[in-house]
Amino acid sequence: MKKTRLPLLALIFFVFMVFSILYNECNIQQINTEQPENDDNNHQSTVKIESLPKSTPVQNFTLPKKPPVGLDKFSKCSSTVPYSGRRAVWAVDTAESGGRGGVPRREECDVYSGKWVFDNTSYPLYSESSCPYMSDQLACHKHGRPDLGYQFWRWQPHNCNLKRWNSTEMWEKLRGKRLMFVGDSLNRGQWISMLCMLQSAIPADKQSITPNAELTILTAENYNATVEFLWAPLLVESNSDDVVDHRLDERILRPDAIRRHSSQWEHADILVFNSYLWWRQDSVKLSWSTEENGVCEEIDGMKGMELAMEAWADWVATHVDSQKKRVFFVTMSPTHLAKEDWEPGSEGNCYNEKLPIKDEKYWGTGSDLPTMRMVDKVLNQLGSKVTVLNITQLSEYRKDGHPTIYRKFWEPLSTEKMADPASYSDCLHWCLPGVPDVWNELLFHFL
Ligand SMILES: *[C@@H]1O[C@H](CO)[C@@H](O)[C@H](O)[C@H]1NC(C)=O
Ligand SMILES: *[C@@H]1O[C@H](CO)[C@@H](O)[C@H](O)[C@H]1NC(C)=O
Ligand SMILES: *[C@@H]1O[C@H](CO)[C@@H](O)[C@H](O)[C@H]1NC(C)=O
Ligand SMILES: *[C@@H]1O[C@H](CO)[C@@H](O)[C@H](O)[C@H]1NC(C)=O
Ligand SMILES: *[C@@H]1O[C@H](CO)[C@@H](O)[C@H](O)[C@H]1NC(C)=O
Repeated sequence: MKKTRLPLLALIFFVFMVFSILYNECNIQQINTEQPENDDNNHQSTVKIESLPKSTPVQNFTLPKKPPVGLDKFSKCSSTVPYSGRRAVWAVDTAESGGRGGVPRREECDVYSGKWVFDNTSYPLYSESSCPYMSDQLACHKHGRPDLGYQFWRWQPHNCNLKRWNSTEMWEKLRGKRLMFVGDSLNRGQWISMLCMLQSAIPADKQSITPNAELTILTAENYNATVEFLWAPLLVESNSDDVVDHRLDERILRPDAIRRHSSQWEHADILVFNSYLWWRQDSVKLSWSTEENGVCEEIDGMKGMELAMEAWADWVATHVDSQKKRVFFVTMSPTHLAKEDWEPGSEGNCYNEKLPIKDEKYWGTGSDLPTMRMVDKVLNQLGSKVTVLNITQLSEYRKDGHPTIYRKFWEPLSTEKMADPASYSDCLHWCLPGVPDVWNELLFHFL
């Protein structure tokens, strides 16, 4: 892997682009008709507890302290101090060393080592316009992308073939089950891709989708199955859990509180998690649930991700019975914000890129190696309870797969920006049909 130092300018640009594209989205507008309720219950119960008469003598030291108010988009830190180094105490110490659960893994072909092959006979797996669940953020052809080459690539491992996608077979695997994607907008893209890949195999009147704020559910009546998406960009509870309105100045998370989301995902039979791009910032703020005065601790983005991953790993370790549940973790989705990564000396980004990268050793500055090592470490502790969908390297090659300017932008663009397409190109998300379809083929392969 090429060892690259991210120049300061590129970093500032990266943070800017991630901010303006990742956080500035109203995404599932087509299917989301209601404003999310934003954790009202939490407020009510807090109010109730606070208004209890003070007459009961509180002398029992084991009584819980005042329950923490749920974080929401209005949450603020009263003050901020540097990170103290504290960690939550988990039932399972994910920081201790261990291997893949001691289970020797079957020697199999490495499906991640391979190349993209142009294949316009089997791809795309569905057409953009025939998928009723398509998002305006990902429908690149509809938004004017003239070159459609990005739809015609098959991932070909060097030493074997991926299982051929078959939507009927996938539905059979899902019969009587709940498949849930949990994460950020990249994960939502994979969920939409899955809906598009699956929908044509069942009659339109046997499928329905429920817009349900942060949890959206597609139900397939004839298979008694659901394919769901849960918005949880930081995995743990945070001030960004509102699926529509999360364009905030600061990210506040509760590294010891995962219940808000886990209570929604725990009933799923197959879980597909992701988390990465939201942590690509200088710092995030921690608001521990035991902190009653609103004091936050400031921590480096990746270190914040590590704390959230530990909370998540603890949930997996203590709640997942591998015989009953499958858990997948999707690794970093690469960005293509700096053209000089693949064309040294040039300026710009993924705008106007029409072909995948051929160099098999290619690794861009958008995929952070320390983060990858941290994720490796956490996943290793979980052994066979988690299957990794290691999409990073294969997606690194696909500089041609992003929406760039061919998507709906939720804010009007200035004429200045319009004159310089690269300045507002989305090089984070992926056009559909496209790269996430292959991530789902990998999921199908391992299911
Ligand atoms: C303290 O509270 C716990 C649970 O709230 C209760 O089971 C226990 O009996 C209490 N102990 C005393 C000494 O009041
Ligand atoms: C596939 O691509 C080849 C080469 O670009 C072209 O000649 C052929 O017409 C295409 N076939 C289809 C079905 O689009
Ligand atoms: C897809 O899977 C179904 C059910 O397993 C099977 O009957 C069908 O032949 C498969 N289709 C193809 C094209 O392999
Ligand atoms: C549908 O699946 C659920 C589990 O997701 C199960 O509890 C229920 O019995 C199933 N219903 C039918 C009619 O098979
Ligand atoms: C994913 O693949 C990369 C190589 O592309 C490897 O370095 C990394 O350890 C893998 N991560 C996991 C969690 O398997």
